[in-house]
Parts: sequence; structure tokens; C-alpha cells
Amino acid sequence: MSQPADRQSPTPALADLERGTPFAARHIGPDEAERAKMLDAVGHDSLDALLDAAVPAVIRSSEALALPAARTEAEVLAELRELADRNRVLRPMIGLGYHGTVTPAVIRRNVLENPAWYTAYTPYQPEISQGRLEALLNFQTVVSDLTALPVAGASLLDEGTAAAEAMALSRRVGRASSDVFVVDAECLPQTLAVLRTRAEPLGIEVVVADLADGLPEEIVERGFFGLLLQYPGASGVVRDPRPVIERARELGALVTVAADLLALTLLAPPGELGADIAVGTTQRFGVPMGFGGPHAGYLAVRDRHARSLPGRLVGVSRDADGRPAHRLALQTREQHIRREKATSNICTAQVLLAVIAGFYAVHHGPQGLAAIARRTHRMAALLAAGLRAGGVEVVHDAFFDTVTARVPGRADEVVGAARDAGINLRRVDADHVGVSCDETTGRADLLAVLAAFGAPLRPAGPAALDDLDARTPDALPDGLSRTGGYLTHPVFHEYRSETALLRYIRRLADRDYALDRGMIPLGSCTMKLNAAVEMEPITWPGFADLHPFAPADQTEGHLALIRDLEERLAEITGYDRVSLQPNAGSQGELAGLLAVRAHHRATGQERRTVCLIPSSAHGTNAASAVMAGMEVVVVRTGDDGDIDTEDLRARIEEHRDRLAVLMVTYPSTHGVFEENIGEICAAVHDAGGQVYVDGANLNALVGLARPGRFGADVSHLNLHKTFCIPHGGGGPGVGPVAVRAHLAPYLPNHPLRPDAGPETGIGPISAAPFGSAGILPISWAYLRLMGPDGLRRATGTAVLAANYIAHRLRPHFPVLYTGPGGLVAHECIVDVRPLTKATGVTIDDVAKRLIDYGFHAPTMSFPVAGTLMIEPTESEDLTEIDRFCDAMIAIREEIGRVASGEWPADDNPLRNAPHTAAQLAGEWPHPYSRAEAAFPGGTDPADKYWPPVRRIDGARGDRNLVCSCPPPEAYRG
Ligand SMILES: Cc1ncc(COP(=O)(O)O)c(C=O)c1O
Repeated sequence: MSQPADRQSPTPALADLERGTPFAARHIGPDEAERAKMLDAVGHDSLDALLDAAVPAVIRSSEALALPAARTEAEVLAELRELADRNRVLRPMIGLGYHGTVTPAVIRRNVLENPAWYTAYTPYQPEISQGRLEALLNFQTVVSDLTALPVAGASLLDEGTAAAEAMALSRRVGRASSDVFVVDAECLPQTLAVLRTRAEPLGIEVVVADLADGLPEEIVERGFFGLLLQYPGASGVVRDPRPVIERARELGALVTVAADLLALTLLAPPGELGADIAVGTTQRFGVPMGFGGPHAGYLAVRDRHARSLPGRLVGVSRDADGRPAHRLALQTREQHIRREKATSNICTAQVLLAVIAGFYAVHHGPQGLAAIARRTHRMAALLAAGLRAGGVEVVHDAFFDTVTARVPGRADEVVGAARDAGINLRRVDADHVGVSCDETTGRADLLAVLAAFGAPLRPAGPAALDDLDARTPDALPDGLSRTGGYLTHPVFHEYRSETALLRYIRRLADRDYALDRGMIPLGSCTMKLNAAVEMEPITWPGFADLHPFAPADQTEGHLALIRDLEERLAEITGYDRVSLQPNAGSQGELAGLLAVRAHHRATGQERRTVCLIPSSAHGTNAASAVMAGMEVVVVRTGDDGDIDTEDLRARIEEHRDRLAVLMVTYPSTHGVFEENIGEICAAVHDAGGQVYVDGANLNALVGLARPGRFGADVSHLNLHKTFCIPHGGGGPGVGPVAVRAHLAPYLPNHPLRPDAGPETGIGPISAAPFGSAGILPISWAYLRLMGPDGLRRATGTAVLAANYIAHRLRPHFPVLYTGPGGLVAHECIVDVRPLTKATGVTIDDVAKRLIDYGFHAPTMSFPVAGTLMIEPTESEDLTEIDRFCDAMIAIREEIGRVASGEWPADDNPLRNAPHTAAQLAGEWPHPYSRAEAAFPGGTDPADKYWPPVRRIDGARGDRNLVCSCPPPEAYRG
């Protein structure tokens, strides 16, 4: 029925209808009515009133964010498509550590695109992480078997940084007193550049040596503590590294081999060649190039260095029933305990990508991998033969996948001709061209490359390749063939059919608790929504299949996206420039501190090397400071959780002339908006120091306050927290570094991509020019979908949700630390210590009991031992928040029953948590019922999450270190 023209129409305007439900209403959990209820509970009329009370006026920013208004999901996807279309994806034959690979669809769809995997958290709570821990153990087994070194970690950030970690490890554990680290001239150029960035602040001298004829005598005479060999080399050459390795080890140096895992299916492995350490990337095990990342780097060592391994290591232990169970071994929260003495600053690594690489090996098995390697090698061998037949000189006789051709004065012409045929080759110099083959290389590629060299195959046509094939021997070096077996464990043999693999992936996912099951209220970790629409573009070929060293004119779309994101993050943080290169928060910290260091040096203040760090800081801060060549001085934190300003002033005075920087987290790691942050910044600046604000807690600031405006000089952000990149079970992350103008000349840059950073920069902090560029569309999409108003509302809701939880839990647990108006920021800390003292019920008991109630535990014992830090984020709706509060309150009541003696201190549902289905089906000697054990607080049996194992004995796993797949018999009985 039509409306009379003069009537006030109740029909919404077409424009509103077109907009539909704003994305912000999907991202933000509580709706208006729920927000009103929560506000009422915390005693404020509106979100603005709450924020006025909670956020100190001194840091508040009055201007709205100058960001484009929110757009719909469909509009944002269309914009992203346009950007992806502006990239030109050519056949990737550049090599240099990045290769074409096929992500098996069963893995792409069921792991990479499956929230059960990508929304999981780092497996600090092992009982609810058995699936991803097993997947990581598979990864470790792959690396360990292929390198023939017994201990492999659960991923590092990329090959370049893995090499830098190996350099640091060599120095830490080696006996040689020299400061020289020798690097093979065949090393990948980006690895060499990362090594230089990392070596200089540590006083390590990187010396590049041509090792073709063994170790040069002048290097032997100088002495060196470590050596890095590339195997196969960047030019493709495969040399027998044994004489060099032997000599270096005789001289007391540790030897690292940077090895290509696919090549190792055919070539003798580093462990057998005598290496102490192996490093590399697992990218070509099914992980798209993504314009540089994310990919899982690897590092493997001999047994004696296991306890010095950087990053995470998954190990096998036992649960309360004595059954094998996986857990993070040794390095769990290592930086938090050892801080400036930590083995490295790595916290977030590349778990999701390591999981994919592990499944790729499970999918193909050893024969499948060897077949891929053989095919890749055949392609390279045929290419070399074809070139030679066409009169082109091939530089090396022995190679695996890469052929370097000598074309005097013709390199540009050849590379250009190949590009015209849709293929990217590597221009080594004016006279040499490199061609790398991979799993995706086809006959047409070979024919086109030969034609580009002016050496077309005759007679022409794909069939001619069969003739050539029949005539061409392999080009693998004599005496370096792989002889020993690998991947003999049943896991690499049992899942060859897709049905079997699908079910294996599902089985592991079902063992885990991720955001797709319920709330993960981890303080400091910001487990918010990772919307499907944000995730979708990352597997589009336009973004996923770009080689990081593709010519700039082929990557315009991605570059536009990167520049947009840099600018938008600068607007949000109030800084002048942002670099997206660091691929984790820890790397952003290091980049920021190196920028500070470079600034002091440029202004003649080399003496400024002291880094002040509050005792409550995240462990990575201290570890990063040491890596930046700084001396860590700890500043006390007061009883109220704030920095002790008197102690700060005393430390500033004490180190006035040497003060380089203060690292401070804001809002504080105690979840409080400290009111005196302005004063703190001023005191540091007055003494000539710089202020580093750790931006991991930016979720509480976006749209309200800008660190770059309230006194800080530099921050890192965690895109895998505030900006929706999923945690992936412990990575990937992105840790951009944001700086004020005076530090901008010292941002990271890259030798292979001049527009990746300033010429005066500190060098690369990651192997790829734009770090983990492949996942940047996620954060880009988030900002575009939310718009300035949505972002501000998200921040407000995060603060409201934390205060609501504090309000509900306060009558039951002491809530530590509050700021203005008795309010917390975006997280709150509840204290379990008094209860532990009175009843013996520990924080572990509470965390594990939450599993029975269907929750992931909050952050345990950080920043204060014996406490739980809860961060609900803006994405949880009131029903879920209340369900969590109800569980915590019910647990408090259970503690009361222990206190009253109703339940014995050593046999109660808290001490025995979590409860498994198997346990319930067995004998039941406990003084509480099975229902109380498994379905507490009204848990619906139909929706019950069953942990697969009982509580795990962590210490046992560390005493008996097992960190590759145990034999199946271990699981019997
Ligand atoms: C306060 C704080 N700083 C730094 C980091 C390190 O970030 P990443 O894990 O990305 O290296 C974290 C990580 O949880 C953190 O919470």
C-alpha cells in the first residue's frame, strides 16, 4: 500500500536499507540494551560518561579519528577485490627462499580457513590445546627428521630471523671468544641483511666469505664463534659442506646450516653433515607466499643445546592418569621468568603456518614429499639442459631447484622477456639470471623460460621435453644423496586418503578450545572477533600468490593497502610514521628500540644505553632491550600497580647521562589508566631519554587517546590483538612499529625493496620487505568495516565489559588495581592469593576448573603471580560475559566448600580439574558427584566441551624431554 505523500514516512530511507546492519553491530557483542544494563550495573548513564570517568583527561584526545566512514561487508570485499586485481601475479621463479606451492584444498579449507584452528590461543593451557600441540609436534618431527637434528622448535618467525637466532645461540653456548660470525657468500641476501641488523647492537661482526674453496685462511686466523652455510646456496649451487663444517668445528665454532627442507628429502641432511644447528623456512610446505609472509621459520639443534633453544618447544609429558599428553616444554613463558636473560624475545611465533606445514607433510608423506622434490629437481635439470643446448652457459653443475645462467650483458633482456611471458625470474646482476623451479612449475613454464633466454627447445612443444628428459641425468651432487629414512612415524603414513586426513584434522580440532567454542578472557591478549569477512581475502590469489621480491609494478594493489594501513594506524596512534615490517610484537619492540638507539647515535649520544623497564612489564620488553644492545634497569611498581614514580625519578637521576629509553605499557599491564603518564613521559624527556609505549593494550585507547600525542616517541602495536588478526594458536602476528617524526629515519628498511623503508633505516627486522604482508588485509578490512565511530564504540565497550566483570566479581574475589573513579581499563585482575593461603586452592586449580565450566582460563600469574587477568574484549555479548561471571562465582562457592572442610583439600573438584569423560566412566572415589565434576553450574551436557586429558604434569615433561612424535605404543595402556 503506498504512503500518502505528505505523511511522515515510517519507511526507512533507501540509503539506510542499503547499509543494512552495520558491521560494528556484528563485531561488538553487547547490543544497546545489553550495554545499558551493563552501564547501569557499573553506575554510569552512558558509555561517554563511563569513559570520562575511566580515562584520564590528560591523555584524552579531543578530535575524532580522521578515518573513512564505515562501509558494508559487501563494499569492503569489493574494495579489496579491486586492490587484489591491481596486483599482477606472475609465475614465481625468483626463488630466494620463497616458492610456489600448492596448499592442499583439504588443509586450506579445514585449517587455514577454519576458526577452530585460527582463533585458538598459544597453548599455555595444554589440557585444552592437545590438538594443536599434536599438530606442532608433527611439525617438529618433520623438521627434526629432515634436518637429522634431534630437537626442533615449534616455529620461528622466518628464515632470516631464525638465522639471527642461530647466531645468538652460537654465541651464547659456544666456547670461542671471537666476536666474528662468518656467513657464506651464498647466503640469501635478506638473511644476510637481517643478520647485520641483529649483529651490530650485540657487537658481533658479520664477515661474508666465499666458501667455494673452503674456509679462507685470513678468517681462520682471525677466529670466529659461528658460521652460517646456505644449503643449497642462493645461486642454486649445492656444494659438499663437510670440509668447511669440519674445519669450523675444529676451530671451536658452532655451525649453522640454512637448509631447504624440500631439498633435504633428496640431499644429505645437516645433522649428518656435522652441523650443530639448522634453520630455514617451511613456506614451500603448502603455505602461500603472501607477498612475504607469514610462514613458519624453523630452528633445530643437537640435544645438548635443547635448553638454549629460542622460541617454543612442544614436549610430551603425562596427565594425572599417567597417559601421554602434550605441553609446551621448558620455554613456556620463558621471557617472563628470565626476562633480560631470556634466550630470545620471541613470544608470538608462526603456529598456524607451522600447523599447515606439518599437515602438508602428513598429507604427502615421505614418498609424496620426495616425489615433489624429484619433480622440482627434474624441472631444474631440464631447464639447465635446455639452456646448455641453446648455447647458454649454466654456472653450476650441481643444484637442486635453482639454475643460474650466465648471459653477459643480457640479464635485463632475459628477465624482461620472461616477464612478458608471465614469469618472474631473478636478475642476479647485469650478466646473470637465476631461475627457481618448484612444485607448481609446469612444462609451459620451462618452454617459456627457455624462449626468454633465446634458447627455445627444438623441436618445439611440450613433448620435446620428454626427449630431453630421457637424455638428461639428475644434477644432484655426487656423494650428497640422502640415504637415511625420514618421517617414519605412522602419522606420516596413515592419512593418505582425504577422508582419513579430513577426520584427523577434525579430531585434533575437536580436542581444542578456541574462540569458536566460547570466550577466551585472556588479559593482555585481546581475544576478540576475527570476522570471517576479514579473513576471506587472505587466500585470494591476488594477495596470496605474490612473491615478496616481485617487481614493484606488479604489487601496486598490495602496496596501496599497506600505505593505507600505515596511514590509518598512524592516525589512530598519533604517530607520524608506521612500518608494518615487524612480524610480531617482539620484533616491533626490537625495531623501536633500535630506532631509539640510532637516534641517540645520530645525535652524538652513544653513551645512552640504559633502558628503564617497570617490574610489571611483559617479559619481551627486557629481552628486546638486551637484543638492542641496551642495559635493563628495573623500575619498581607500587602496591597500587602503578609505576613507582619516586623510584622512577631515582633511577632517572642515577642514569641521567646514560638514559636511552623508558619502556612502559599503556594502559598498564595491571589494566589501569595511570594518571601520571604525562608526568612520567616528561621526566624521561627532561633527562634526554625517549619514551617507548608498548601498544599491546591499544584495545583500550583506539578513538580515545593517542600515545604519539600524550608523550610517547615510539610504540609497537599488535595487529593480532587490537586489529583482529587471529592468534592462530600462537601466531601469526604482526607488530608494526610506530614513531614520531624524529625517529622516522630509523624505521626498518630492506635491501631488495627500496620503498619498504627509509634509506637511513636500521636494516630489515624481518626477512620480507613488508613482513607478514599476506595477512594485512585482515586489519585493513577491520578498520574499513568499523569506521571511526565503530572503533570508538568498540573501545568503549571493551572498557565497559571489563568494568562490568570487575563489578560482578568484586564481592567474591578481590579486584586488584583500579584507576580513576575506582575503574579499570579494558581488563581486570582478580586476586586468588588470599584464597590459596586460606584453603590451598591454587590459581591453577581455578584455571583448570574453568575448563569444566566450558571456559578458557584468563591470563595466569601475569603481571602478578597468583592472580588472574581477565580481558573480555568488546566482542563478547552479555550472555557470555554473565556465563563467565557465573562460573567464577560458582567456583568461589566451591572454594568455600573446601574451606569449610566439606571437601578435602586434596580431593575436590578444583584440585582434580579438569575432568575427562574417561575419568567419569571409571571408578569414582571422590566426595563429590560425577555431575558436580562434569556439569557444574548448569553446564548443558549437550554442549559440553570435554578436555581430552586430565591435568598435565609439566615438570615431568621438562625432566624427560621428548619433543618429536612418540611411538604409538606410548599411548597404549
Ligand atoms: C604487553 C605485551 N607486550 C609485548 C607482547 C609481545 O608481543 P608478541 O607476542 O606479538 O611478540 C605481548 C604479547 O602478549 C604483550 O602482552
